[in-house]
Formats: sequence, structure tokens, C-alpha cells
Amino acid sequence: MASFLTLDDVRLSGKTVLVRVDVNSPLNPVTGEFLDDSRLRGIMPTMRRLADAKVVLLAHQSRPGKSDFTSMERHAELLGVLLGREVTFIDDVCGERALRAIQGMNSGEMIFLDNVRGHPEEMGLRKSGFDELAGCEMVTKLASVADAFVCDAFACAHRNSPTITGLSLVLPSYAGLLMQHELAALGTAVENPPRPYTVILGGVKCDDSLDIALNLLERGQVDTVVPVGVVGNLMLWASGHSLGEDNEAFIRNSLDGEFERTWAMAIQVVEEYSEKLLLPIDLAIEEDGERVAISVGDLPTKHPIYDVGLGTLMAIRPAVMNAGCVLWNGPASYFEKPAFAFGTIEIMNVCAETEAFVIIGGGHTSTLVVQRGLSEKIGHNSTGGGACLTFLADKRMPALEALEQSAAKFS
Ligand code: 3PG
Repeated sequence: MASFLTLDDVRLSGKTVLVRVDVNSPLNPVTGEFLDDSRLRGIMPTMRRLADAKVVLLAHQSRPGKSDFTSMERHAELLGVLLGREVTFIDDVCGERALRAIQGMNSGEMIFLDNVRGHPEEMGLRKSGFDELAGCEMVTKLASVADAFVCDAFACAHRNSPTITGLSLVLPSYAGLLMQHELAALGTAVENPPRPYTVILGGVKCDDSLDIALNLLERGQVDTVVPVGVVGNLMLWASGHSLGEDNEAFIRNSLDGEFERTWAMAIQVVEEYSEKLLLPIDLAIEEDGERVAISVGDLPTKHPIYDVGLGTLMAIRPAVMNAGCVLWNGPASYFEKPAFAFGTIEIMNVCAETEAFVIIGGGHTSTLVVQRGLSEKIGHNSTGGGACLTFLADKRMPALEALEQSAAKFS
């Protein structure tokens, strides 16, 4: 693990502690209620560990301009209910009201500041270097009334901003318990997975999926790679099966400027690691609004491919049941359409059934596992979406770099 400090290295009782969390959650567009509260539940261990500190929570919900860009009032309320204690919402980020509230706190109190992305610096300084972040207004003001910073926001550890990286550079800083837990579980997926290790990659983010596949294949850490969903379609195409004009155009368009790079990775996987690939052997297309099964030999098709077929699912089953470790990221199908949810649900069921250590890589797949009540049967259900993909692909995680710099500076 990286060389940063954790809550085991410090006693923060009675101290004023800024805690960056990621509780960005899917909300019901009509009522604003939480559709999934996993990220709030995920930070509970850190909240309990800091029970006798003065805890100041910093978080974002969505992005300015989006319909689910809200204040953090409901988050504060729900966190209070989950913790069974008062969490006071302050309708300010780093202005007079926030600073006065922080300075007036007693030990054991907790306040939740407003959406940090409501302050222009939080999004505006994303491309800035660490020095500029360390000197910006948000960091200077908040740090002036705090003793320490805890980063428990694994789900945005791949972002760079005043409250994710900037605060670590000016205050003694510690990784929170969720951050540690995520890094340990996902570290298993990258560094020492119990073998055999099966990695199922689906969804539409083919570039991210291939970054992960290549990282794991090049490390010699994976036994079977199972591409499904749009990733499966791309890998069939790269293996020489034309998908049909519309299906191929869909992949090109969804990758935008990343198509050439992704295609090159797909070809590399096919050429160098074909013995580890378990490709779909059959699919389901939508024809006149109906689900129709086809074999891969029937390709190309002018109809959209929305699911893998039964034969493919039967081939995936032993690769999951006999594995020591399974990583699954991204749906196998267009599951929002009931006729095509089958592949995704079957993979979820076999992941819940196997004795293997199963890691679910965040995003849609994690939400589905929670909604179907299967979390207890899963080894690790990540709270990170993009952060999880970034970590698994071994790309830069600015929040961790900043924590390391903090440890070097303040230890
Ligand atoms: C997420 O939900 O993945 C994180 O909160 C990061 O959100 P962002 O992609 O808007 O930065």
C-alpha cells in the first residue's frame, strides 16, 4: 500500500477535523430521495472512529448544471439517521457562516457543509498543480480553522481539486477507513488475487475496460477475461466477426475520440492473449421489439445486440464457480429493458453463488447488486465508479499522491 498515514497513526479526539467524503448518490428525479445510500453507509466506520472529534464533512453531489446538483442538506439528514446522532447542515462552504460554525463546535459534534462544487474553485481548479491548489481560497480558509484532514472519498480519489488534494498539502492528513478498505480489496484484484482469477468486463466503457484488461494481463495476474455487453461486442469485432453497420457505429460513437486507441488495445488482447479470452458464443438482438437469440456465426446483424445468450452464460458459469477470485465490472446487457436484463442478472446470480472472493467494480453493477439485496454475498462491492476503474487500470490517483506528500511533509 502507498506510504500515507491512516487513522491508526493518530489520535484526533477533541480536534477539528475536515473530512472529505464522496456521498454523491443517485437521486429520484421527482422526489429527490436517495435511490442508493451505499456511499453514506460506506463512511460510517470513519464517522464512528471520529466520534469524539469535531467533524466537519465536505462533499459534493453531482456537478453544477445537472438536475441532481443539490445542496447536501438531505445527505446530512440521512447520515444523522444512519448514525443515530445529530448532523448539522450548514448552508455555506468556506464563507463566514461556515467558519463561524466550525469555530463554535464542541467535541463530539458533527457538521456537514454545503456542496463543495457550489464554490467555483472546486471544479475550476481541477487542472491546477498541487501548489496552486494548496494556496487557493477554499483551502486557505478551511485549513485556518482545522487541525487535520481526513480523506475518505475513495470514489473521487481520481479527481484533483481543493477539497480532494489541496487540503492534504497544508494539513496533517490521513486516509479514512473506507479509503483503506477500498484500496486493500481492490489491491487484491490487481496484485495477489486468489487463483484462478476470472475478470468479467462489460458495460459501454470499452476504453476503461481494455485499460483494465491489459493492465492485469500484462502483470500475468489473470486467468480468464470474459468480455460481455458492448465490450464483448467490440472483442468479437476485433476477433474478425463483423457486427453489422449500426452496431459498429454505436461502438465508434460511444468511444468518441478514444476509438483508435481502444481498437489497438482490443487487437493486442486478441493477438497476444487469445488463450485467456472467453468470448461470447451467442447473443440476443432486438427485432421488432422482441428478444431474438442468435449465434455468433449469424453475425453481422442489422438489429441492435443487447445481451449475451444462454450458451455464453453457461460457459461463464464454471469460470466463476471454479475461480478463487472474480472481478466483475459493467453490465452484460441493456438491463434497463426487461427483455434484455437476463444476462446481467444471471452473471449477478452466479457471482452471489460462487465461493470465490468476488469484487464488484463500482458504478451500475454495484447499484444493481445493492438493489437486488445481494451485497452480503459479495466479497467487496466498491463504492467507486470512475475511481475504481482508474485504480484497476493502474492510472494516476491524485488524492493518494496528495496524501503521500502530506505524510512526507508532516510526519
Ligand atoms: C462519482 O460518482 O464517480 C464521483 O463522485 C466522481 O464524480 P465526477 O465524475 O462528477 O467527478
